[in-house]
Amino acid sequence: MAGDLTTRDERWQIRIRDLHKSFGAQHVLRGVNLDVERGKINIIIGGSGQGKSVFMKHLMGLLAPDSGHIFVDGQDIIGLGDVAIGKIQRKFGMVFQYAALFDSMNVVENIAFPLLERYRLPKTEVMERVRALLTRLDLASTAGIEQKFPAELSGGMRKRVGLARALIDRPEILLYDEPTTGLDPIATKNVDEMIRRTADEFGVTSVVISHDMASTFRIADRVAMLYEGVIVANGTRPEILAAPHPVLREFVETSGAVRFGGGPS
Ligand SMILES: Nc1ncnc2c1ncn2[C@@H]1O[C@H](COP(=O)(O)OP(=O)(O)OP(=O)(O)O)[C@@H](O)[C@H]1O
Ligand SMILES: [Mg+2]
Repeated sequence: MAGDLTTRDERWQIRIRDLHKSFGAQHVLRGVNLDVERGKINIIIGGSGQGKSVFMKHLMGLLAPDSGHIFVDGQDIIGLGDVAIGKIQRKFGMVFQYAALFDSMNVVENIAFPLLERYRLPKTEVMERVRALLTRLDLASTAGIEQKFPAELSGGMRKRVGLARALIDRPEILLYDEPTTGLDPIATKNVDEMIRRTADEFGVTSVVISHDMASTFRIADRVAMLYEGVIVANGTRPEILAAPHPVLREFVETSGAVRFGGGPS
C-alpha cells in the first residue's frame, strides 16, 4: 500500500486513510484504512450496525468524516467544495440498499433521472441509453416494462432498475449496498452474475457491501471485513481463504455457507 497517495495509481483507484466518523457519542468509524482495486469486485463484509453503509456513503461524498482522507484517483475528496465534489460524484454510481427508486416515476423516468438532472441531452439519446441498459440487464423482455411503476415490479426487477439507474451515466466506480438482501436464491444468483458481468464488460471498479457469504466468496476479487470501526482483514479471495483472520473466520463460518480448510476450528 506504499506510493504517493496524491497521484493516480494504476492498481488502487480509491485509497482510504484513517477515516473517523462519530454520531454524537457513538464512534462508528475508528480509523478505517482500505485500498480499492481498480476494475475489480471489492467486497466489504461485517455485522449489522458496524458502519458499512456509513463507510460507503463517505466514498462518494454523501457523508463527511470527522477526520481522515479518501483519495479517488489521487485526489483527496475530503473538504472539496460543491462543484468539485459534483465532478467526483460523476465517476460513481450507487445501488442503494433498498433500490431507492422514485415511487411516482416509471421505469424509464427512474433510470434516466441522473442524466436529466446533470445534462440537457436530446430525448432520443436518453431513450437509446435507457433501452440499451434494459436489454443488457434482461429487463427488455418484460412486456410494458418502460411504463411500469416500482410498485408493479418484483424485488429482483427493482434491483435491476436500480442498477440501470446507477449505470446510466457510465460510472467508473459502482457502489452496491447489500444488493442481494431479501432476494431468493435464484434472484440472488442473477444479481451476482449481473455484478460480475458489469465489472467484466464495463470494466468498472465495484465496491459491494454484502451479508451473503455464499455470494461474497462466489464473486469477490477482494474481501475486507469491517469490525469495531476498523478493517480487521483485507486481501484477495485466495488470500482470505488460505489464511482467514480469526474474527472473519468466525463470522463467515457462522453463516454456514463457507468452510475454511486447516487450522483449529
Ligand atoms: N445519519 C445517522 N445519524 C446517526 N447515527 C447514524 C446515522 N447513520 C448511521 N448511524 C449509526 O451508525 C451505525 C452504523 O450504521 P450503518 O448503517 O453503517 O450499519 P451497517 O453496517 O450498514 O448495518 P446493516 O448491515 O444493518 O445495514 C449504527 O449504529 C447507526 O445507528
Ligand atoms: Mg447497511
